Amino acid sequence: MRFNRKPLILLLLAALVAAVAPLQGSVLPAHAPHAMVASVHGLASQAGVEIMKAGGNAVDAAVAIGFALAVVHPQAGNLGGGGFMLIRMADGKTHFIDYREKAPAAATANMYLDAQGNVIENASVVGYRAIAVPGSVAGMVYVEKKYGKLTLDRVMAPAINLARGFPLAWEDARDLQQDEDLARFPESRRIFQRGGNYYKQGGIFRQPDLARTLERIAANPDEFYHGAMARELAASIQKGGGLITQDDLARYEVKEREPVRGTYRGYEIISAPPPSSGGTALLEILNILEGYDLAKAGNRSSESVHLTVEAFRRAFYDRAEFMGDPDFSKLPVAQLIDKKYGVAWRESLDPAHASVSKDLKRPAIFNELEQYASQHAQPMAVPEPEHTTHYSVVDAAGNAVAVTTTLNDDFGSRVTAEGLGFLLNDEMDDFSAKPGVPNLYGLIQGPANAIGPGKRPLSAMTPTIVLKDDKLFLVLGSPGGSKIITTVANILMGVVDFGMNIQEAVEAPRFHHQWLPDKVNVEQWFSPDTVKALEAKGHHVERGVTVGAEWEPYWSDGECVAIDQKTGERLGASDGRHNGKAIGY
Ligand code: GLY
Repeated sequence: MRFNRKPLILLLLAALVAAVAPLQGSVLPAHAPHAMVASVHGLASQAGVEIMKAGGNAVDAAVAIGFALAVVHPQAGNLGGGGFMLIRMADGKTHFIDYREKAPAAATANMYLDAQGNVIENASVVGYRAIAVPGSVAGMVYVEKKYGKLTLDRVMAPAINLARGFPLAWEDARDLQQDEDLARFPESRRIFQRGGNYYKQGGIFRQPDLARTLERIAANPDEFYHGAMARELAASIQKGGGLITQDDLARYEVKEREPVRGTYRGYEIISAPPPSSGGTALLEILNILEGYDLAKAGNRSSESVHLTVEAFRRAFYDRAEFMGDPDFSKLPVAQLIDKKYGVAWRESLDPAHASVSKDLKRPAIFNELEQYASQHAQPMAVPEPEHTTHYSVVDAAGNAVAVTTTLNDDFGSRVTAEGLGFLLNDEMDDFSAKPGVPNLYGLIQGPANAIGPGKRPLSAMTPTIVLKDDKLFLVLGSPGGSKIITTVANILMGVVDFGMNIQEAVEAPRFHHQWLPDKVNVEQWFSPDTVKALEAKGHHVERGVTVGAEWEPYWSDGECVAIDQKTGERLGASDGRHNGKAIGY
């Protein structure tokens, strides 16, 4: 066959552009008249849709998706981790379910320090001692009973089927093969890497141990924390040198908490309270930014990015100082999300020059903040893992659910519970191993997040619901460690300030600042002119992000839903940075 040269050149050019294009995603959200799910995996989204079509509500769907993700997305979907679920029922009632992991009773503040008092590298990240008491099964069983319409075994059916075998996507086969730490644990190597005969794209991934575990939970959910399964789980962890006992599992409890609430340019924001720092930091950021006309400054202009970065810097400074488990410390959330505090912070913000993180001075308008901060040395910042996952659901009645769930790092501690077929978290790394020393995400934290028995580690997870005129408007969230908060802010501001549709807002190039290290991260293809203008204002800009030894050009994974305010249509946005899918009907 002869080729006309011109189309060939055009094709080659198109291929080249596609090869360097930042994102493969569409700029149009998925549209559906009744219901929508957005998640990182099409099979998990499909599980949610199946359950709603079978008469379930958004909570039933969320539980089905949570269990399905534990099968099809072992990087972060989980039985052995924890999460937060924000529910807004169609009648306006909201519920925030905390099923965050807890430190075992034998945990101590210095458990990751050596004899010289230095943090032992990776001790809180890989292996048995990194595991905190999992909360996901308790959380999902709790919400299913309390807010779902169907039975647990019905909503778990899709996950059980998937565990019997499903075809692996390229991205997932790659992740399973590439993770060297998985290979350190024979059970993980056997299940997730087929003993070294790695799974390929399209290969059927069968997890019979996990299928049996799911069937046991569906038949008797109490097993996981009180019965035979609790015995098996504790024995498996202890055999590897971990601290979790049957007693720790028996004592695990789900908590319902009041979500944090605020407003931004007339929209109502409902988000995650402590032990997540997410909602508090998000509201603090938005309160600072409300005083500026960002739309006029322009989307991703150096002016709007500068102002936003300065708001990020200040909120992360406070996050490091004040945030932790609310059951162990009195946290000044009310002061941090007070609009007056945002006004006071603005006075320190120079529109022409970058602030210097180490020289920030907190506005002295609330005694509570000053008293608390004077009780200890100023914290520094620490890194946090990236590999959480988020999904959003809206059903036909208008019930909405935002769930962020995690094993912390990708594949968690890399430890698989022997005979049970699921991975266990490394959530102990979300504590500050030594206040003032960076964690996996470079975040530095203060004493409120020191390790303590029974304590929940500080999280950045930010499942968020936005209302317009009291009506459901956005369901938002993302993974990304410390970048969860700035990703959710980027997406929310994309819609509210810059008039983007939800898919455009999810795809838009992200930028991040977390106080320390004092630098602005921008995604790979951020405009070089904007970068230069930011540098001229005194910002240190890094393209992409370095986490440990890895450099990543992009980050996070917004899986969001919006409601068309005129038609009521559900608009689903799955992030083009990953292989997720928004599915509706
Ligand atoms: N492990 C990620 C988070 O909780 O923020």
